[in-house]
Amino acid sequence: MGTTGIGIPQLGLGVFQTPEGKETVDSVRWALEAGYRHIDTAAVYGNERSVGEGMRESGVLRRDIFLTTKLWNDDIRAGRTEEAFYESLDRLGTSYVDLYLIHWPVDGWQRAWEVMVDLYHQHRIRAIGVSNFQRHHLEELRAISAVRPAVDQIESSPQFLNQELIDYCHGKRIHVEVWSPLGGTGGTLLKDPILQQIAEAHGKSPAQVVIRWHLQRGVIVIPKSTHEERIRQNFDVFDFSLDDAEMAAV
Ligand code: A2P
Repeated sequence: MGTTGIGIPQLGLGVFQTPEGKETVDSVRWALEAGYRHIDTAAVYGNERSVGEGMRESGVLRRDIFLTTKLWNDDIRAGRTEEAFYESLDRLGTSYVDLYLIHWPVDGWQRAWEVMVDLYHQHRIRAIGVSNFQRHHLEELRAISAVRPAVDQIESSPQFLNQELIDYCHGKRIHVEVWSPLGGTGGTLLKDPILQQIAEAHGKSPAQVVIRWHLQRGVIVIPKSTHEERIRQNFDVFDFSLDDAEMAAV
């Protein structure tokens, strides 16, 4: 992958808006028990301690889990990248992360990137990347740094494709991870009649169809759920596929 040549599982669990405590511990543990090996959190989610606890409770070895966290805006602006990174490690209870992302391109992100490159060279981070970067941010990054971001994590769903940016990233060999892949919390996407029709035809749920669609379009997808049944269901997407007409319909 990008900066390191390490692999990233294409399907992971996102824990945005999952509060510190039992809810996050359980979600992470259920996901790892169901076969997920990729967990995506962020300092600003306020649940890194519980993510770490869920990972340990699962019994899955740390080295078998691909763990992502993100550097928050206040720390970028304050020039506290290194401090913030070690605080995240401490909360997660781990000595490294697999992927560390600049959460948003706020003032000071260029300096933050340099510090992240140093941490990467010190083997504290296995790959570094960005999130919510538009094309012009990526172009600026390319101009100031020899290190290519491994990923750009951006919003994308059937309701907001963001395809131009995805194509740009793929052209530059930057992996794309998508957030709000199911249309986000409180969204209307999963009630869409076309999705329901496709889902029925495969004996799957609309959420499974959307996740499958993301996998087939070649992006990394990190759906969020706090329900055990849904967490399992969202990982049960490797035994069917969508044809071209269904891909286009979604
Ligand atoms: P919940 O956590 O209550 O299960 P996104 O990943 O796009 O941010 O969207 C996640 C939203 O979709 C959450 O509100 C989550 O709710 C809900 N969700 C996740 N998986 C499923 C599923 N399999 N079926 C229905 N809703 C789901």
